[in-house]
Amino acid sequence: MKHDVNIHTDKILILDFGAQYTQLIARRVREIGVYCEIWAWDHDPAEIAKFAPRGIILSGGPESTTETAAPHAPQEAFDSKLPLLGICYGMQTMAMQLGGAVEGGHAREFGYASVKPVASNKLLDGLAGEKGELDVWMSHGDRVTAVPPGYAVVASTESVPIAAIANEAERRYGVQFHPEVTHTKQGAEILRRFVVDVCGCQTLWTPGRIIDDAIARVREQVGGDKVLLGLSGGVDSSVVAALLEKAIGDQLTCVFVDTGLLRWHEGDQVMATMAEHMGVNVIRVNAADRFYAALQGVDEPEAKRKIIGRTFIEVFDEEAHKLQGVKWLAQGTIYPDVIESAGAKTGKAHVIKSHHNVGGLPEEMNLKLVEPLRELFKDEVRRVGVELGLPREMVYRHPFPGPGLGVRVLGEIRREYVEILQQADHVFIEELRASGWYDKTSQAFAVFLPVKSVGVVGDGRAYEWVIALRAVETIDFMTAHWSHLPYELLAKVSSRIINEIPNISRVVYDVSGKPPATIEWE
Ligand code: XMP
Repeated sequence: MKHDVNIHTDKILILDFGAQYTQLIARRVREIGVYCEIWAWDHDPAEIAKFAPRGIILSGGPESTTETAAPHAPQEAFDSKLPLLGICYGMQTMAMQLGGAVEGGHAREFGYASVKPVASNKLLDGLAGEKGELDVWMSHGDRVTAVPPGYAVVASTESVPIAAIANEAERRYGVQFHPEVTHTKQGAEILRRFVVDVCGCQTLWTPGRIIDDAIARVREQVGGDKVLLGLSGGVDSSVVAALLEKAIGDQLTCVFVDTGLLRWHEGDQVMATMAEHMGVNVIRVNAADRFYAALQGVDEPEAKRKIIGRTFIEVFDEEAHKLQGVKWLAQGTIYPDVIESAGAKTGKAHVIKSHHNVGGLPEEMNLKLVEPLRELFKDEVRRVGVELGLPREMVYRHPFPGPGLGVRVLGEIRREYVEILQQADHVFIEELRASGWYDKTSQAFAVFLPVKSVGVVGDGRAYEWVIALRAVETIDFMTAHWSHLPYELLAKVSSRIINEIPNISRVVYDVSGKPPATIEWE
């Protein structure tokens, strides 16, 4: 597929009223194969016409339209004649602003509900199950009590008489429930109908075309210039590397800093995959000694993090300065980072995780930024990675913290501790993969505890270290449950770790949720 279609022509605008599900709406629209962007509800409305979406989705939100200062949709959205879909709060503000009514003060309704279509419409026709109802997910307090002129009630529940509204002539719809969550069984089809049938979008947003488009744009952006990329072994930077290799080949140089705090044989794997298999130009810097020296005698978690971050930047910058004629710094920024930092400007977003951001390099070396994944969600980055030929196993790997095993060896970091931990972690991950549990957990790893405990080895007593195992299930890593791994699996991992790795006398399993515990032990 060559770059002869513009995958950004058919697009949807999502105006965000602050619901926790807004990114999910965007991901669902992308999965349908249509590009979309999320803008805050108070984004400059003059931009809407310039952006030229085929339709607008108004998201849910935590506020109440009955408050005087409640967020509202820009008048431009209604004047535009574009198709609209209001979801939950989005439907309420639509109703309110167009001359209907909304009532607050009801008990919050949260969970499954059965919705009965009561009039024909393009969004819901033919979707009801045998009982003539749709299974949906509700989460709201307020409800629409009167529809605006020109609108009809098209679905009801027992407790919410106006659960969906439509103005078919104007191609405008509102649903009180959440089609974007998987609990709403026909949700994906409802969104597809809006985006494809109502808005008329072509489904052009596919991994192959995303890659063609990114390649064309990178070539146009950097021309014949040289580009530098910090390769960490993580998903985002690996996908950037693979993409840039395809786009500009030898103009790209990657610097991979082996901190000595990576997983078992990870440094070699990064080189095997990226340099040998993908043909990417990678400079590996073996900096383990330097990191261990800088960390010697330090046991306080924040101090360790700072040293690791600083040393990383020093090593990377030194290497970068050795290169001649580099004009661009590539980064694996992804769409959620872009949304968060846009929110940060208006004070709406949560604090961004601290990463190994490359210090003052861009200004100091006069580098411009190239960020080819800026439009993509993590799941899209993964699909693009697979399409580019990266191994599935790497692309679908659990997240790994920037400071690496530095946060998983508690207390002072020593080479011998790191080596014990790498082996124990490797056994754990190997068994998770073999049993099919790796993909059922969101993150799993071993932790080295600098505690000695007594055990028996043969006829003698051993006095050795303790390894803790952690496995969690989570959607957003803000809260997490510990994974209920089978006892047989834990037994096998424990016995392998104690038998195969010297200097370990005991293995324990972490059964703490987040909150109150964090995922990492630090
Ligand atoms: P906690 O331990 O705060 O971790 O529950 C939440 C998620 O963040 C990861 N994590 C980090 N990721 N740099 C990162 O890129 C860091 O410094 C860092 N610290 C924690 C952690 O692995 C988990 O997925």
